[in-house]
Parts: sequence; structure tokens; C-alpha cells
Amino acid sequence: MTLSAPPLKVERLALSRFTTLGVGGEAEVWTVHDHAQLAAAMQAPYRVLGGGSNLVISDDGVPERVIRLAGEFAVRDLERDASLSSEREYVTGWIGGGAPLPGLVRELARRGLSGLEGTVGIPAQVGGAVWMNAGTRYGEMFDALYSLEIATPGGVRVVTPNDLEHGYRKSGIGRDEIVTRVRLRLGSSTPEEVTARMTFADEARKGQPKMKTPGCAFKNPGGVSAGKLIDEAGLKGYRIGNAMISLEHANFIVNLGGARAADVLAILEHVRSIVGVPLELEYELWP
Ligand code: FAD
Ligand code: EPU
Repeated sequence: MTLSAPPLKVERLALSRFTTLGVGGEAEVWTVHDHAQLAAAMQAPYRVLGGGSNLVISDDGVPERVIRLAGEFAVRDLERDASLSSEREYVTGWIGGGAPLPGLVRELARRGLSGLEGTVGIPAQVGGAVWMNAGTRYGEMFDALYSLEIATPGGVRVVTPNDLEHGYRKSGIGRDEIVTRVRLRLGSSTPEEVTARMTFADEARKGQPKMKTPGCAFKNPGGVSAGKLIDEAGLKGYRIGNAMISLEHANFIVNLGGARAADVLAILEHVRSIVGVPLELEYELWP
């Protein structure tokens, strides 16, 4: 007996509830559970929402459909695929783009599978983390990718990391392309070793704020910490409305409660006008 997917869900919702900044107006949210529902959702202008951990969404919301990946796009098959694996490489089954990354990283550690421990603490979904090639100096998503399934209005295709021009915080995946599933290429290790490497990578987060925030605002220019540059410009604690540059790490803007997207944008503009180095935004701004 095959179980049918839950029905497509279309609701008008405030996007603030889906973002780690806690900001964002309304949109029509399409929650899709399988490829047929996703294909239907992609028949009109759309955006795809992941964990909402790198997004500053306008207080007016967005006019496009906002697609959320659920159902078969949120499950993960971590069993070793014997037809693709070798003695040195453990290749997994498919992992949904809508699966939460933190839970995946924890489960890999439990199984003693190595490859994603550098991404510990990134509050993303797998698809969003791949789209941004999220990572830290201890490792990034593309280190552990074997293949990716990508959906566009024209259809679904499978690519390998080598097909994409990826790099620091960039995947080469287009804005209309949705990462629906990935396979990982991992190394066999032990839970103790993987956990030790995760603890090490997690130490680097000790100085990051625990408040509502979309992570680092700017990419590090030429490998220099943007946070250090903003800090040296004396901007920690700079506040507009209820958005503020964190007192702990200057590349984080935090929501003190009731912040508006416009406040965050005004802070970004101010930082750029003060810091003497061109800063490229890491956030995605909607619209
Ligand atoms: P979202 O924020 O939902 O979306 C971001 C972009 O990805 C949007 O353009 C969206 O359309 C696109 N997208 C989302 N899902 C998909 C999909 N399935 N297919 C195609 N496109 C998609 N980032 C780091 O790199 N390193 C860090 O150490 C780090 N630390 C962080 C710590 C905190 C406390 C926070 C809040 C954020 C941090 N971030 C970090 C930023 C953020 O977690 C990453 O940028 C992450 O990749 C965003 O993924 P997401 O699923 O939340 O995507
Ligand atoms: N520093 C300051 N003042 C600050 C912030 C940092 O002096 O306000 C100094 C620190 O003392 C340290 C150096 O700058 O000597 C580097 O700081 P940190 O270790 O925090 O690293 P980062 O380069 O600022 C990057 C990523 C983070 C990632 C951490 C840990 C970017 C833009 N940021 O920060 O990623 O978590 O390393 O690996 O690449 C993100 O991308 O959203 C993100 C949070």
C-alpha cells in the first residue's frame, strides 16, 4: 500500500513567524509535500523559504508565493547506498531540502559519520544551507555533497557539486532553482571523534549573540572578519528603532523586540557608510 501525500496547503501567513529575526509581513504560503505539489506551486512567481535564518523580509511581505518544503522533502535516508559507496566513501540516500540541518548534524555524529561537523550551530534547513554553501572555517556544505536534485519550472535535474560554481557563501545555484534533495559523501569515523570536532567548531560561536538575528550581516571581505571591522569602527550598540548591532559580535544585528525590516536596512546602510571597506551583504533581502 502506498501512502498518499498530505494535501497541498495554501495559507496567507505572517512570514515573521518563520524567520530567526522575527520580522516579515504577509504572503501566500504554499506548503508542498511532493514533486507534483511543488510543480503546481512553481507555475506562478515564487520564492522558497528554508529555515529563515538568513532572511530580512519586508514589513509589507512579498507578492510572490512562498514555497515551504515538507513531506517527502523533509525526510532523510542516511543509510549507506552500496551502489555508490566505496571503501573510503560513505554515500547516503536522499536527504530532503526541507530537513533541518541541526538535527541532521546531530544524527551524523550519533552514527559516527564525518563531513558536516563544521556546520554545527547553523540554524538552517538543508536546502537553504546548500543554496548559500553555509559553513564556518571548519567546513562548509559543499565539502560533503555527493549530488543534488534541483527543481525549476522546467523540470527536475540531478547535478554534482563540480557542475556548480561554488565558493565562500555561494553555491552557483540560481534564484529560481529549488534544492529538493541531496546525497552526502561522508567518511566513516566514530561518534566520539565526530562529536569532538563538533565541540571544537561550536567553541567559535561562544562570542555570538543568542538573540533574534539572521546571522552575520556581511560576508568577510578578503578573509578579514567584517565583525572586527565594524567593531573597530565603534558601531557595537548602534541602534535604529528596535534593531541594534550586537554588543557581543558586531556583524550581527539583533531584534530587541518589535524591530522592523526598515530599521535593519537603515543600520546596514549606516555601517557601509562608516566602514572604509566595501562590504557585500550576506543576508537575502525580500523583496
Ligand atoms: P533561508 O534563510 O530560509 O533562505 C536564505 C536563501 O536561501 C533564500 O534566498 C531562499 O530562497 C534560499 N533557499 C532556502 N531554501 C532553499 C532551497 N531548498 N532551495 C533553494 N534555495 C533555498 N551561516 C553560515 O554560513 N555560517 C554560520 O556559521 C552561520 N551562523 C549563523 C548563526 C545564527 C544564530 C543565525 C541566525 C544564522 C547563521 N548563519 C550562518 C546564516 C544562515 O543560517 C545561513 O545563511 C543558512 O544557509 C540559511 O539557510 P536557511 O535554510 O535558513 O535559508
Ligand atoms: N572580532 C572582533 N569584534 C567583533 C567580532 C569579531 O574583534 O565584534 C574578532 C574576533 O575577536 C576574532 C575575529 O574577529 O579575532 C574573527 O571573529 P569570529 O571568530 O567571530 O569569526 P568571523 O569571521 O567574524 C565567521 C563567520 C560566521 C561563523 C564564524 C565561526 C562570516 C561572515 N562569518 O565569523 O558565520 O559562525 O566565523 O566560524 O563568514 C554567518 O555567516 O552568518 C556566520 C555567523
